[in-house]
Amino acid sequence: ERSLLGLKDLSRSEIESILDRAAYWEAQQEKVVPVLSSSFVANMFFENSTRTRFSFEMAEKRLGAQVLNFAAAASSVEKGESIYDTVKTLESMGIDAGVIRLKPAGVLEELASKLSVPLINAGDGNNEHPTQALLDLFTMKRKFGTLQGLTVSIIGDISHSRVARSDLWALRKFGAEVKFCAPQNMVAPDLEPYAAYVSMEEALKSDVVMMLRVQLERHETGMFKSAEEYRAQYGLTEERAARLSKHTLIMHPAPVNRNVEIDDAVVECEQSAIFTQMSNGVPVRMAVMERALR
Ligand code: CP
Repeated sequence: ERSLLGLKDLSRSEIESILDRAAYWEAQQEKVVPVLSSSFVANMFFENSTRTRFSFEMAEKRLGAQVLNFAAAASSVEKGESIYDTVKTLESMGIDAGVIRLKPAGVLEELASKLSVPLINAGDGNNEHPTQALLDLFTMKRKFGTLQGLTVSIIGDISHSRVARSDLWALRKFGAEVKFCAPQNMVAPDLEPYAAYVSMEEALKSDVVMMLRVQLERHETGMFKSAEEYRAQYGLTEERAARLSKHTLIMHPAPVNRNVEIDDAVVECEQSAIFTQMSNGVPVRMAVMERALR
């Protein structure tokens, strides 16, 4: 299987081999190693992105792939063309793999079953964001040496978070303990059997404190009342960050709502891995593209 639709059904050894290969690419001195120069990759983003879109493009170009970028807003999707017809069109033209981000959950699997090119999930609704979780695991492993026994608190908008889901599925395979902390209207009932909800005080005791963005664009009107209130109850404020154990790693998939889920001064503090996560996204996605195409 060369597609990467999610981590829930990917084995621990498959994940380990991607992380090992990412370490190889991270250590590579040459910026461009053109092992994929005869492969055409389409980055198909039906939902906005900065990090995922550009780090895939960076990864693909570092491997010498021929890159086609597709943005839904500038395409015939605007005339009503379906996602399937769009991807089938690119497949007909001869792409060798597609990186795809979708607004709705539950579409990707069917799409992959109808197409023959490998598809890489770059985030589908609130279902999965596998390459984000892979880069998160890579970052944690770098810091702690192992994932076994690690405690990871994921704090905030769990219900809308594909990052929380992918991290949860992957971390469980490695013997890490995931805890959630969220306001009542942001809990995910489907995940309750897999991770306990704890208080903010308790959540801050973990080895990793992962803050999530409040996904305002996915909230129904009235669900999110006040940024100040959210920050006071669930934000990683400077005061809370100062009370963290010195070994605790602060993470956030970004984009960040500064001074809502995390204070401005904490984003780039010494314990924060937020921009390291972004750096690590490139070698991780190199490993994923190589797996899809070689
Ligand atoms: N973390 C993440 O997926 O960011 P983008 O939405 O900018 O890709």
